[in-house]
Amino acid sequence: MIQQFDASFGKCFYLGNESVCCILGIHRGQVELLHFGAPLLPEDAEAMALPEGLGWGCSVIYKHADSSVCLDTSALAWSESGLGDYRETPLALSKDGQPVVPDFVFSSSRMLPEMPPYAFPMPHARGGAETLELVLTANSSLLTDNTTLSLYFSLYETALVRRTVLKNGSGSPLTVSKMMSVMMDLKGSFSMTSFHGNWSTEMHRHTVPVKRARTVNESVSGFSSNRTNPGFILSKAGVTEDAGEVYGFNLLWSGNHYASAQKSEQGLTRVMQGISPDHFAHTLEDGELFESPEAVLCWSGCGLNGLSSNMHRFVNKHIIPSYWQYRERPVLYNDWEGCMFSFNETKLLSLAKKAKKLGCELFVLDDGWFGERNSDTAGLGDYTVNREKLPGGLEGLSRRIHALGLDFGLWFEPEAVNPDSDLYRAHPDWALHTPGIGDMLSRNELLLDLTKPEVRDYIVSSVSAILDRADIQYVKWDMNRHSAALGEKAYAYILGLYEVLDRIFSARPHILLEGCASGGNRFDLGMLCYAPQIWASDDTDPIERLDIQNGLSYLYPVSTIGAHISVSPNMQTLRATPLSTRANAAFFGCFGIEMDLGHLLPVEEQELKESVEYYIAHRNTFQFGSFRRNQTEDGAVCWQVTGKDETIAALFHRLIHAGPGYEWLYVSGLDSKAVYSMQSRKQALRVGQFGALVKHITPIELNPNGMVLHTADKYYRMHDATEETVCSGAALQAGIPLAPRFTGTGYREDIRVQGDFLSNVYLITKESKAQDDPV
Ligand code: DGJ
Repeated sequence: MIQQFDASFGKCFYLGNESVCCILGIHRGQVELLHFGAPLLPEDAEAMALPEGLGWGCSVIYKHADSSVCLDTSALAWSESGLGDYRETPLALSKDGQPVVPDFVFSSSRMLPEMPPYAFPMPHARGGAETLELVLTANSSLLTDNTTLSLYFSLYETALVRRTVLKNGSGSPLTVSKMMSVMMDLKGSFSMTSFHGNWSTEMHRHTVPVKRARTVNESVSGFSSNRTNPGFILSKAGVTEDAGEVYGFNLLWSGNHYASAQKSEQGLTRVMQGISPDHFAHTLEDGELFESPEAVLCWSGCGLNGLSSNMHRFVNKHIIPSYWQYRERPVLYNDWEGCMFSFNETKLLSLAKKAKKLGCELFVLDDGWFGERNSDTAGLGDYTVNREKLPGGLEGLSRRIHALGLDFGLWFEPEAVNPDSDLYRAHPDWALHTPGIGDMLSRNELLLDLTKPEVRDYIVSSVSAILDRADIQYVKWDMNRHSAALGEKAYAYILGLYEVLDRIFSARPHILLEGCASGGNRFDLGMLCYAPQIWASDDTDPIERLDIQNGLSYLYPVSTIGAHISVSPNMQTLRATPLSTRANAAFFGCFGIEMDLGHLLPVEEQELKESVEYYIAHRNTFQFGSFRRNQTEDGAVCWQVTGKDETIAALFHRLIHAGPGYEWLYVSGLDSKAVYSMQSRKQALRVGQFGALVKHITPIELNPNGMVLHTADKYYRMHDATEETVCSGAALQAGIPLAPRFTGTGYREDIRVQGDFLSNVYLITKESKAQDDPV
């Protein structure tokens, strides 16, 4: 609900529902933030207004003030430099090379059924939500009151979406060097949790206290980046996964981004988020608009799990392209880790047959199918099929893959070019160069200059032609370097990218687009508006994925996270992990298999098949259930998803120690009085993993390096303990003890063989209604 009313100090705007609430007051022409966070009533506005009169010796008194109040001490929802507020400004403008202070003051408001459309393709929240527009006009004689700033606030079920739009009505050009999507002065102190990494170490969580020195979360690599995800969290003291007050922020933008938080002397925390001002200078001609990307703000009083749930609901409902909203994602097979550049049609078809046998639904041909692309040094940009590898072309391959009963998907990296390519030789000027500096390559490639219309047309026509010729249901859109562009150019590049994606995919909504940028170098809400899922990382080691997927889970739902089972030892870490753990980690994502299936042992084939079956049986719960991170002991990780009729919890171990103690499974958020049954997934154990220890459980002594054991390892499976229990939701919440772990006493079917990197998955279903409900 959005309401407007008059309070004792001036106009008030209330935006509130069951999840979030924002109360704004207009005071001395400024937009003050009376409250953002917990749901309150409109009548609370008066009580939330800060007392007047805070100001010190050298404070500057705002010229529209009728008292000694200065902006420096106010809680604001927008501000600017030059008017006495010396905290960080969300806006920096100049005219004729000189800084200009617009002195924007409130002039009018409008209630709109939804956010107005952007004038060009830009990611935006879908589905419409009541929107408040506050129009501020410039008071400066250098600008005239035709120069306006509109602050938009859209109220979604679990989020507030902010957009800021500047209109130049000054009669001559203005330069925008900074304009945030949102700024707020929140009350009290916070810690900032942000997500960082690099190639294959994406989304590791870091938390720092926000103090007087500014805490900044910024990307200047041209993309939202694996170094610094745009999403971040502000937590009050003592926040846990299940308790306490937390705020989440994210941006619908895939380029350079900026966010900061800083505590003021008066106990307010100024937070802002938008496009990075680094090297930014956008010329705004008279009459033109500059529109910020949308920022998403969530709040929860129920800790980090509560915040994630609000973010996930918003993303699934309002960010994902309509066709794919709540539509189950297929189980895919991708040939990359198995083949890299070395394949031909016969090899691909044999992989596809095996993938089909395992239960996969989609076959994806990754890099290496076009031009001279036999390594990453050549061919990028030349989208003509390599007939040596694929004599029947893509059409022929696609037909054969479909004949096996699989959908067909294809990899592209349309934004990049190898200097060793026909495209580069024909159009060297199409690549993004740094003026005055020779080209610096990354993975032997340059980016194409998507700010040029002819480059955008080339990409749209070459990709579209392939999609229309071969029968393609899925596209993996890769991008493998940081940008050479800075500031304004990097900004225009991202607008070019959105135009290209819009032109190709809005006409083909049924094609499932998976975003990828060397893994998760562009995992953001902007890309998710086009690509319902994103390849989270080239690191497919399930133990590494515990950190990567865990980091993503704070802000992004499981349905958006690409996660595959790959080979062991792992390609990135050389770590050997059991197939069961590789599967259990991939369950918590858009599940796929990415390894050479040519050398699978019969036991592995069987286990993979069972894993795919398990995932498909519970796919809706995994992809769209409500996700939680649960309590564990000893650095283990516990994830949980709750769907319509079932809950699945997974417990993952990292390194274990001898003589393990008890272990409990904690499952949260269930109906405490209802009775549930809990059953662990039946998991296989490899005979070979016990090595020489096998002799202790076999009637005859076996040579650990001999034929008999090797043969048994291929064909014969042992099983881990399976557990079953019936108890109340309250007991599951309190933590139920699990069967003992392997303690050096040998193998027994009632002992969990949970050595290093083992894990299990528990299915929890309701047996009966709440105990005091009439049956
Ligand atoms: C980087 C991606 O992250 C990988 O999954 C793979 O598609 C390669 N590029 C192909 O070059």
